[in-house]
Amino acid sequence: MDILRTVSEMQSYADAVHATGKTVGLVPTMGALHGGHLSLMDLALNHADRVVASIFVNPTQFGPGEDFEEYPRDLEGDADKLRERGVDVVFAPAADEMYPHNDHPTRPAPLAWVEVEEFDNVLCGKYREGHFRGVTTVVTKLFNACKPDVAVFGQKDAQQLAILKRMVDELLFDVEIVSAPIIREPDGLAMSSRNAYLNERHREQATVLYDAIQEAESAIRGGEQDANRVVRAMRDALDNAPDARVQYADVVNAGTLTSVETLDRGEDVLAAVAVYFGDTRLIDNVHVRVPAVSSTDAVSADSERAGSAGA
Ligand code: PAJ
Repeated sequence: MDILRTVSEMQSYADAVHATGKTVGLVPTMGALHGGHLSLMDLALNHADRVVASIFVNPTQFGPGEDFEEYPRDLEGDADKLRERGVDVVFAPAADEMYPHNDHPTRPAPLAWVEVEEFDNVLCGKYREGHFRGVTTVVTKLFNACKPDVAVFGQKDAQQLAILKRMVDELLFDVEIVSAPIIREPDGLAMSSRNAYLNERHREQATVLYDAIQEAESAIRGGEQDANRVVRAMRDALDNAPDARVQYADVVNAGTLTSVETLDRGEDVLAAVAVYFGDTRLIDNVHVRVPAVSSTDAVSADSERAGSAGA
């Protein structure tokens, strides 16, 4: 497995793969790899002939006061995990390789940005100004450097995934986006590089995020159509953690990310939460299709059928 540092080396590699009629799969990451990231590698290996994992802690998606400096970095450990998994190439560029007109050592201020409007007015975007503009910009650059046919992203970052899908659609990128399910610790906490920041007490309480989205899922599957009641169920679950500071608990349309008040039958919705434990911000979500028929309707329809059959 090669570790490539420059855009031109990366582009030459992708060109060479394409010249043999084979495909390139890309898994963009910021490193500090865990089981969630590694499941994306497996998916990419199933979808493409050669797999590139990028590792780049992207400065433009961190706001002032966020954890850019503290973000865990372990290129050697990550490379070992990727090699073992069967990944072909690691693309690990330095900041000035990705931001060539960078005039600041850690905080580049590029003039060229890629942005998907409106999708960032809700959920995390509401609280992390400029974050998704940083993501769409760096992913565009990674696409230009790695020339993937397929790119894999996790449902863990559901808003990021929806925004990138929209970007690829609107800007006519010739890249297939594959989405990967959320991988969890045995107690339900979604794997995240930021879980390493949690102390023991907060780590124990952090399972309330999973409790909250499970409450939302079972309420929606049970026929609840009032989004406020679903939100209340999530907040009740989060209240069980004395140290949790809830940033949001919300239900939105899964495709457009617009807020919903009444959940329509057959609609795909996302129930999502963001919670602070100390300075550590955790997110989780569940994607649910609102049942076409509520469970109570189903019961009465069944009994009507039974009744008419008997008559
Ligand atoms: P990062 O947080 O490192 O995540 C890289 C990819 O791993 C993302 O697609 C994310 O959704 C996925 N992922 C993280 N935790 C996961 C889990 N528990 N289960 C499944 N997938 C999981 O997301 C980013 O980096 C950056 O924003 C990036 C796209 C690389 C752009 O800088």
